[in-house]
Amino acid sequence: MKKVNPLYEGKAKILWETDDPALMVQEFKNDATAFDGTKHEVIEGKGRLNNTISSHLFGLLNEKGIRTHFREKISETEMVVERLEMLPVEVVVRNVAAGSLVRRLGIEKGATFDPPIVEFYLKDDSLHDPILSEEHIRVMGLATPEQVTGLKNAALAVNETLGSFLLERNMRLVDFKLEFGTVGGELVLGDEISPDTCRFHDAKTGEIMDKDRFRQDLGGFLEAYNEVLSRVSS
Ligand code: ADP
Ligand code: TMP
Ligand code: ASP
Repeated sequence: MKKVNPLYEGKAKILWETDDPALMVQEFKNDATAFDGTKHEVIEGKGRLNNTISSHLFGLLNEKGIRTHFREKISETEMVVERLEMLPVEVVVRNVAAGSLVRRLGIEKGATFDPPIVEFYLKDDSLHDPILSEEHIRVMGLATPEQVTGLKNAALAVNETLGSFLLERNMRLVDFKLEFGTVGGELVLGDEISPDTCRFHDAKTGEIMDKDRFRQDLGGFLEAYNEVLSRVSS
């Protein structure tokens, strides 16, 4: 398998076409962005950390029988993935109230949800990724009702597996965002699973170990990502 052309460059990653039409190389960049890309910094080492953390977590999900696009990590910043037809929908699972949920609804930060909340957002920066109801998804034709059920079930299965794996490593999975696509009609988890797309808190101290350190200018960004990597690989 050989890398051929960059097909898409986003805020945090580059997707490369390969000589195998079914496979792509997903390369993680050092760029950190927030607030629809309006806050931007290049952080040396971030690409390597997110690729390595994401490879570990996808590997775990594959082992547990959850269908993901991940095939293998091929360099410090690159992984081979299956090429998917992406759904323009972001699926967010929340175990603990944080971020936009607290800002939008005034729910107390730190409130816990059992069962967790599953939400859908439209993947469109120009509209600021608005929240979607299942009715919106239906009328906009973004996914079929069967796919919506599949997305919810898959997101909850990821939450179960990831949540207990992380808790054994002294991390609390507060919330996270997933992106799915299809191949041959089958729903497959794509994109990344990293401290950029999840909120991880130290289970004992509550210390923030994710991109909120960048969003909120808390400092200690690389230290936190390195600590996540060391716990995830233990
Ligand atoms: P953004 O598009 O939000 O700036 P990224 O920089 O993370 O995001 O770019 C990665 C892009 O690749 C995203 O649009 C994501 O939906 C897409 N993608 C992720 N996994 C796959 C895959 N397996 N096949 C095709 N596209 C994918
Ligand atoms: P939120 O509280 O800002 O809605 O974020 C919920 C989760 O989704 C959090 O773990 C961060 C993640 N997320 C992304 O991965 N990309 C995004 O663009 C946003 C807004 C959130
Ligand atoms: N990833 C998004 C952006 O770059 C937002 C975020 O994660 O806060 O704008």
